[in-house]
Amino acid sequence: MPQTNPFHSMVPRKLTDSELARAIRLDMEAELDAINLYAAHIDATDNEDAKAILRHVMDEEREHAALFWELIARLDPAQAEHIKVMSEKFRLIVSGASHEAVEAAGEGGERAAAAEPGLDKRLTVGSLRR
Ligand SMILES: [Fe+2]
Repeated sequence: MPQTNPFHSMVPRKLTDSELARAIRLDMEAELDAINLYAAHIDATDNEDAKAILRHVMDEEREHAALFWELIARLDPAQAEHIKVMSEKFRLIVSGASHEAVEAAGEGGERAAAAEPGLDKRLTVGSLRR
């Protein structure tokens, strides 16, 4: 005779968006952990069939993590703002901008431009390759 509680998995109430963002962050953590686990298993075997399957599944986990990241941005406006600003900071950091220019990013374009005049003139595909 099954012993499963008929109320197993029943939730007492719906989550707020803020609470859901927390839950999705945990879900994303599980996806990232799965990516690392599959990478380790790929490294640990010479079986090419297993490696192919693991690579396929690992790539799906990457997609899941990316989808969760987008969902978190929708559920958490503060996170969405950080993503927007960090994209610009990332661009500045990898292009060799000064610390002041990087820190000024997100505080208004004028201040960022003043901190690093001529920065945009230095950025070319060629300079990024170097
Ligand atoms: Fe997944």
